[in-house]
Amino acid sequence: MTIICEPLNWWDLPAAHELERQLFPNDAWTAEQFWSELAQPSRTYLAAHDGGILVAYAGLSRVGSDADIQTVAVAPDQQGRGIARTMLERLLAEADSSGVTHTFLEVRADNEPARHLYARLGFEEISRRARYYADGSDAVIMRRARPEAGS
Ligand SMILES: CC(C)(COP(=O)(O)OP(=O)(O)OC[C@H]1O[C@@H](n2cnc3c(N)ncnc32)[C@H](O)[C@@H]1OP(=O)(O)O)[C@@H](O)C(=O)NCCC(=O)NCCS
Repeated sequence: MTIICEPLNWWDLPAAHELERQLFPNDAWTAEQFWSELAQPSRTYLAAHDGGILVAYAGLSRVGSDADIQTVAVAPDQQGRGIARTMLERLLAEADSSGVTHTFLEVRADNEPARHLYARLGFEEISRRARYYADGSDAVIMRRARPEAGS
């Protein structure tokens, strides 16, 4: 199967919401939040499809020279195939080339797969928010600086 990565469209939202509820059962975005995200010009969202089925999505928001990774999610049976990395590399490359100097994100301290992924993409931990989540888990704030030209 070939994974196709392209902009997330409004017609992907029901499937994205379904995947969201599966992957984030305790704090899933609502359908309204997805629509709101897609409507904002500061947002860039990508989707990955396999045989026409939505298997992943990821988004980035931008304000001036700063950006934030809004979310990244990959269907359980498609994880470990490099899909998240491919989507985030594409979002970061677009951000880098459009003047973003720093990109931030927040991740649960106990989310090892996500933290490994972000570290591979050049994100470094800059602070922690103790017991940030409802279940008492800490949040880790990570930042990535735009690579210097030529490096
Ligand atoms: C985190 C997540 C997006 C990773 O997606 P993925 O497509 O499986 O990741 P990739 O295949 O692109 O892997 C990227 C890197 O992370 C590593 N990785 C992926 N899953 C891993 C796991 N379960 N344990 C350890 N490392 C893992 C890969 O080995 C790879 O590292 P490498 O380049 O050194 O080999 C996916 O597990 C997911 O959707 N999780 C649930 C939702 C979530 O937690 N989102 C993040 C919220 S902040």
